[in-house]
Amino acid sequence: MNPDIPAVTNQFFRSGLISRRTGQPADLPFVCRFLDAGALPMVRRIHHEVLRYMGEPGLVREESDEFFTFHFQGEGRILGVFIADQLVAYAVLALPDSSTYPYDRLVDELGLPANAWRRIGHLTGAGVTPEWRGNHLHLCLCQWRLDLIRADGRQHAAAFAAPRNPFSWQNLLAAGLRIKGIRLMGGDKLRYLLHIDYHHAPPPDPAMAVIVPVSAITDQRALLDQGYWGYAQATPDANGGRQLWYARPLPS
Ligand SMILES: CC(C)(COP(=O)(O)OP(=O)(O)OC[C@H]1O[C@@H](n2cnc3c(N)ncnc32)[C@H](O)[C@@H]1OP(=O)(O)O)[C@@H](O)C(=O)NCCC(=O)NCCS
Repeated sequence: MNPDIPAVTNQFFRSGLISRRTGQPADLPFVCRFLDAGALPMVRRIHHEVLRYMGEPGLVREESDEFFTFHFQGEGRILGVFIADQLVAYAVLALPDSSTYPYDRLVDELGLPANAWRRIGHLTGAGVTPEWRGNHLHLCLCQWRLDLIRADGRQHAAAFAAPRNPFSWQNLLAAGLRIKGIRLMGGDKLRYLLHIDYHHAPPPDPAMAVIVPVSAITDQRALLDQGYWGYAQATPDANGGRQLWYARPLPS
């Protein structure tokens, strides 16, 4: 590891207020901190609960105990949100050191040089239990992980999200990532590749902005091939279908 690059802290603490519980008004404090390996049973329980609640299989990757254990320390951190002593949400941050990192090959996905592993942070998996959804916890967990990525001296942040999982990609877009590619993972799982390069994050050129249905994957691929990025969720179409704003980035 380069000694000139600050190592990510082992201390992390944030707090805030919950305003919704099962869709009803609530007023409760929460704290967020790093989890250690002792939290594995709680993280596994939430992971399996959110998988059970997914309306459609294959939108969220099923992770192993080894995956979570790997990311509690070293090349990752796992953030946990607690209400009283109950873990209600988690989010995994991958901080790869080298090509021996055993999960997603983001250097290849982003077309970066083989020695760029230490310049990338990966928002890789998060879950909020259904009872506590609607409190923007996922957006907070995205922003906090991005803060940690930058504090660790990393230039790039990336994430994958299924087009049919808007609750995931809308928060990643709101946190500043942009859709830069569409991948077929594990043979048949469509995923947006979302990315931000903190040295090159231009705003959209409004003159070139277009609205595209999320279901129009071929059209989105064609726009991405022409240098467009997916920037934001647009107003739904007349039938309530989700849509995205695509635009070319303004030349810098
Ligand atoms: C993605 C996820 C973490 C977002 O949870 P969150 O932070 O509580 O969501 P938000 O606060 O942004 O919710 C915004 C709105 O969407 C609703 N919502 C959030 N997730 C939802 C879901 N999976 N299904 C239906 N509605 C959902 C909220 O109730 C809220 O509704 P409102 O606008 O009427 O108030 C959560 O949906 C989840 O755990 N999903 C399963 C796992 C997953 O997709 N992980 C991310 C990628 S690995």
